Amino acid sequence: MKIIVINGSPRTDGMTASVLHSVKNELIYHGIDVEYFNLTDLDIGHCRGCCSCYMTGHCFIKDDADWLSERIRQSDGLVLGSPTYASNVSGLMKDFIDRGHFVIEQLLNDKYCITVATGENYGYKNTLKVLDELIIYSGGIICGHMAIKAPFNSTEILQEKTRKQISKASYKVAAKKKNRFQILYHKLIFDIGIKPFVMRKGKLYRGVTERWSDMQIIKEKIT
Ligand SMILES: Cc1cc2nc3c(=O)[nH]c(=O)nc-3n(C[C@H](O)[C@H](O)[C@H](O)COP(=O)(O)O)c2cc1C
Repeated sequence: MKIIVINGSPRTDGMTASVLHSVKNELIYHGIDVEYFNLTDLDIGHCRGCCSCYMTGHCFIKDDADWLSERIRQSDGLVLGSPTYASNVSGLMKDFIDRGHFVIEQLLNDKYCITVATGENYGYKNTLKVLDELIIYSGGIICGHMAIKAPFNSTEILQEKTRKQISKASYKVAAKKKNRFQILYHKLIFDIGIKPFVMRKGKLYRGVTERWSDMQIIKEKIT
């Protein structure tokens, strides 16, 4: 298995990084091949909202967003971590979410995922919810998720509870554990919301339906 780990904090040695490195080491312990990326090291600009990627299958902005999205597409799973900024994900993470071809393209179809949100006082559970919904709407399976509260700038050693959560989540990824409730929830969202919306768009969303055909999410050909 190959898993991509992405740190959405501008601080490459902060709390989020500390948890993500621990997840990385646990996945490696299970024999999984891991690639770790700090979004702050990459060049990922804002989405310009032109929607041309839905027709062409790629973004016209030539930076690292499509490249990282493609790395995820070729992997078996994703670990996403973000600090909480104003009760939400960081700006770095939001830019990648907007540019990464996640939801409409079903980037995480059948991929095993873990989410990590850190914060120091309030709103970090909302950050986790944003990441979790992204995973489910994009077709992924959440094998574990953790919202971790710690003082800003702390380099404190991870608490026992967090270590147990990391260990359990990593085991579930390695064992390819699926949750039937999540699969059903995603099916409802896809069948009732995403698929009819995309089909109504016809050729304007050709890039999306071509990806779906490649992944065998749909059988019909759009002409
Ligand atoms: C601009 C900014 C906004 C923040 N907003 C929140 C917040 O709304 N809620 C919260 O619990 N923590 C907030 N924090 C604290 C960070 O989320 C927290 O310290 C986090 O663990 C930092 O992660 P890092 O060490 O990986 O950068 C904020 C920090 C910054 C710099």
